[in-house]
Amino acid sequence: MLRVEGVSKTYDRGLIVLEDVRLHLASGEFAALVGPSGSGKSTLLNLIGLLDRPDRGEIILDGVPVSNLSRVEAARVRNYLIGFVFQSFHLLSRLTAWENVALPLLHRGVGGAERKARALAMLERVGLSDRVFHRPDQMSGGQRQRTAIARALVGEPRLILADEPTGNLDSTTGSQVIELLRSFNRDFGVTVLMITHDRDMAMLCDRVIEICDGRLLPQGDAG
Ligand SMILES: Nc1ncnc2c1ncn2[C@@H]1O[C@H](COP(=O)(O)OP(=O)(O)O)[C@@H](O)[C@H]1O
Ligand SMILES: [Mg+2]
Repeated sequence: MLRVEGVSKTYDRGLIVLEDVRLHLASGEFAALVGPSGSGKSTLLNLIGLLDRPDRGEIILDGVPVSNLSRVEAARVRNYLIGFVFQSFHLLSRLTAWENVALPLLHRGVGGAERKARALAMLERVGLSDRVFHRPDQMSGGQRQRTAIARALVGEPRLILADEPTGNLDSTTGSQVIELLRSFNRDFGVTVLMITHDRDMAMLCDRVIEICDGRLLPQGDAG
């Protein structure tokens, strides 16, 4: 469902961040992206998530080349196909849990009643039925990340991109977050690409993709 073909990215002053990256993910895969700090992991995830553009190469989502879409088209593809989960949750502090979860549907033009119903159903699915009217500062880190996962999944995306989703959590809570992502992968076939520093978390994935100095390391035939 995802193909990254010969993608390169250079920032100002000629710093090469990604060089000739080629990566294929099949539908339903649950993959870890691991590598040292500064190796280009977040840059690659942001390119796949259409938050940034490659200098060279192409990214193909569900058969559609997406590297040269306009901002508006990219935002639409992102809204329908991709869910993001971040290390620091990126919830809006003024909004309650359900309002945060409903945001992708708001951007899609879904009406108020349906938005709320779907957000509440997602919060129930992630075990937060008793936190729907809480704001982020009234929740623990694990609860915030589960809220963020509900937001990422409420629009039924095909691909979840997670950038160190357990980085701000203790290991028990982190494992619960991975297990939650795993359950969506198992039950709905959503494809997951997750950056992690943690070898134990990576071991929970079907496949481990390693990056170093902006290049993917050759892989075994797992996956
Ligand atoms: N917006 C940017 N402008 C300039 N350099 C950047 C930018 N984003 C990242 N970099 C640089 O690109 C390299 C890779 O960063 P990043 O993808 O965040 O690495 P990782 O997520 O693996 O730690 C680093 O050297 C970083 O300083
Ligand atoms: Mg990073």
